[in-house]
Amino acid sequence: MANKDQAFIRVEALYKVFGPDPRKVMPQVHQGMDKDRLLRETGHALGLKDINLSIDQGRIFVIMGLSGSGKSTLIRHFNRLIEPTEGRILIDGIDVRSLNEKQLLAFRRQRIAMVFQRFGLMPHRTVIENVAYGLQVQGMPRAQRLQKAREWIDTVGLSGYEQQYPSQLSGGQQQRVGLARALCTDADILLMDEAFSALDPLIRSEMQDQLIELQERLHKTIIFITHDLDEALRLGDRIAILRDGELVQEGAPEEILLHPADDYVEAFVKDVNRARALTVETVMKPPACRITADTVEGALRQMHDSTGRYGYYITEQGYQGMIDRSALEQAASQDASRSANEVVEEIPGVRPDALIEEVLPDTLDAHHPLPVVDASGQLQGELSRASLAEALVTGGDEPDSEPTRH
Ligand SMILES: Nc1ncnc2c1ncn2[C@@H]1O[C@H](COP(=O)(O)OP(=O)(O)OP(=O)(O)O)[C@@H](O)[C@H]1O
Ligand SMILES: [Mg+2]
Repeated sequence: MANKDQAFIRVEALYKVFGPDPRKVMPQVHQGMDKDRLLRETGHALGLKDINLSIDQGRIFVIMGLSGSGKSTLIRHFNRLIEPTEGRILIDGIDVRSLNEKQLLAFRRQRIAMVFQRFGLMPHRTVIENVAYGLQVQGMPRAQRLQKAREWIDTVGLSGYEQQYPSQLSGGQQQRVGLARALCTDADILLMDEAFSALDPLIRSEMQDQLIELQERLHKTIIFITHDLDEALRLGDRIAILRDGELVQEGAPEEILLHPADDYVEAFVKDVNRARALTVETVMKPPACRITADTVEGALRQMHDSTGRYGYYITEQGYQGMIDRSALEQAASQDASRSANEVVEEIPGVRPDALIEEVLPDTLDAHHPLPVVDASGQLQGELSRASLAEALVTGGDEPDSEPTRH
């Protein structure tokens, strides 16, 4: 087993060169000769160059990049369908290169399953035989493997189709079979190479939902290749972006969106619907003014320390509501010893994990930035129209801009 401090999957200084004598051209590669020139001058294709990655267990790790950028080449190293020219791949502490043929076979059968773009089903076997195939090669007795296959077929919503042949199913159904087949082996790592790319948008979206739902239960380590940024943002816990065989950026989805490393990544993210991709948490600012005093007088003093027109009223139980400066001043002119509670407006908070799209109308309607309140009732930040606009329009890349006053 891997050391707890180590990533579940590690890729270390991985190079892959295709051609007649890859080792011979490695000095040129190390000297930085680019992909086009290497091909022109030596007839070798640079598949991957100095890739270093850590992938956490139980997460969905998305790999993106233009066609030919090396995505498939990279994940085929994980189950050693491709041998590296240089570098190491460690999976759960195992150096995959060190496996002998028998160990490799067992590793592929038990630890890693693949879901392909074109489904890769066996046309002359029924759905249930396709799904149970991985268990058959593992040597599981027939009755047992069919039972298990039936359960997975049910899980992906294909009960009743057990005896059909792949050609009798729609693309989406065939891909469900592909998914059931991968899950049926109990492999803890799933490699999905453009698994949903051949599907219609609606079916594709359903498959994404299903994968998210399954993942909540199964916590597999999933390496998911896609061209589609919306898909990447929806599924990925982390996203890596490849360009011409090199890793240009790796990070959480919002990091990629808000801080693209270069023009290439920028080009990927520019058309994305940010409102649907970013959460409140990623664009909120720290609350400008917290009020904790019991009396109107105390509250006013705390308000004076800030320049804003409003404050958030906090007790030991957490966020209670908002206090408007003018309401507070008016109350103070009448009776400053009154309880601050009396001027609190019960403005409900928005959740840090809500999508911007969901909170957009309320934020636009509100007189003051909305309080961001977590599940335990604590105030985490404030969401102003200005920070929303910034995130939606410019990508929110302005460091530490002032919270807006209304
Ligand atoms: N067997 C091979 N022989 C020679 N070159 C190869 C081989 N496999 C891949 N390559 C080259 O390696 C590079 C990366 O290819 P790869 O298939 O990994 O790209 P990809 O990102 O998966 O692209 P796509 O999105 O089109 O699937 C390409 O330039 C490709 O031509
Ligand atoms: Mg590919």
